[in-house]
Amino acid sequence: MKFSSKIEACGLSPIRKFRPYVVEAEAKGRKVLHLNIGQPDIETPKAFFDAIRSFGESVLAYAPSPGVESYVEAVRDYYTGMGYPISCDDILATYGGSEALQIIFSCILEDGDEVLVPEPYYPNYDTFIRITGATIRPIPTTPEEGYRFASRERIEPFINEHTRAILMTNPGNPTGVVLRPEERQLMADIAKEHDLFLISDEVYRELVYGGEKPSSMLEYTDAAENVIVVDSVSKRFSATGSRVGVVVSRNKELMAHAMKICQGRLCAATLDQVGAAALYRSMTPAYYEDLRAEYQRRRDAVVEGLSKIPGVKFNSPEGAFYLMVTLPVDDAEKLQYFLLQEFEDHGETVMYAPGEGFYATPGKGRNEIRIAYVTNPAELRRSVELLGLGIAAYNAKREG
Ligand SMILES: Cc1ncc(COP(=O)(O)O)c(C=O)c1O
Repeated sequence: MKFSSKIEACGLSPIRKFRPYVVEAEAKGRKVLHLNIGQPDIETPKAFFDAIRSFGESVLAYAPSPGVESYVEAVRDYYTGMGYPISCDDILATYGGSEALQIIFSCILEDGDEVLVPEPYYPNYDTFIRITGATIRPIPTTPEEGYRFASRERIEPFINEHTRAILMTNPGNPTGVVLRPEERQLMADIAKEHDLFLISDEVYRELVYGGEKPSSMLEYTDAAENVIVVDSVSKRFSATGSRVGVVVSRNKELMAHAMKICQGRLCAATLDQVGAAALYRSMTPAYYEDLRAEYQRRRDAVVEGLSKIPGVKFNSPEGAFYLMVTLPVDDAEKLQYFLLQEFEDHGETVMYAPGEGFYATPGKGRNEIRIAYVTNPAELRRSVELLGLGIAAYNAKREG
């Protein structure tokens, strides 16, 4: 059978490929602590389940293609409450941020097009972009400069006649970088000047630890035609399994095209949108403050642990719940195999996401890893301790 050359060019998620080795380690009785995946252990607020339990309809019908009205209105009020007035027509309900990305790329990309993405980046972007026939052109950043990318010198040399869009993640996964106001302004300016779409993935919006207000690229109304926001309840409400997100844009033409796909797939899941509407409606500022404070405790636990490991380099993350770390080893993937197959301390070992999978440029990220700090501080401290012990054991074995 013949398959699409586009799907053949895609790869499996680099974050999941160690799964068989985890199963093997666990079968030998070892406990594997996870620093690798973005699945928070924080409880989903009760409002979600309550709304679903009290759903009064006797038929679980299709929702309107642009979204369940109460959900779309709740999203509109959430943005308007932050100071970014939008109308319901600027919003389309999706199956998570993931479908929002796929819809956007389907509307704006075709064979041979390029999307500028600062690397390291969230690996699933690659699949969603490749499947359209377009490719990522990475904007290189360096650990030494804290992975910052928002400057003209870094971005403009990569813009050419194939460039259709810039894709930014703010706050950043995997880097934890949060753009400063002047950097956000610059991103809007560059998109406008070069007539490019600016896709802003803001699924970690509230998770910022520097005292700044959560922000959106919707702020830049003079770039309203360029800006497309991707958002989701997954991380904000610790509801990754609900699969509810949005595309938000004031570009009417884009939204009219996106509606074709929304109608084609009929609707996003009705009940999940009902639950998501209740989440947006019931959340107080105190909820967001508590969430932020909890992740900040987790970040601090990881940062404290990492600073005790000799030779490890990292920047304290400013947002989201990830950071990239440079390790004093030849190859972080080899270290991961060692940790799963040969290493243990009191019956425990640790798992992270090797850095190479977050880069498009071959060879980059080989001695880097991404850590997700989504478990409790005590478990995080132990996980980082195991990482330090594992590095020492791995290097001792290589040298001996
Ligand atoms: C940067 C980023 N964007 C989008 C997503 C997709 O989120 P979801 O489809 O659960 O809304 C994720 C999930 O980890 C992410 O990290």
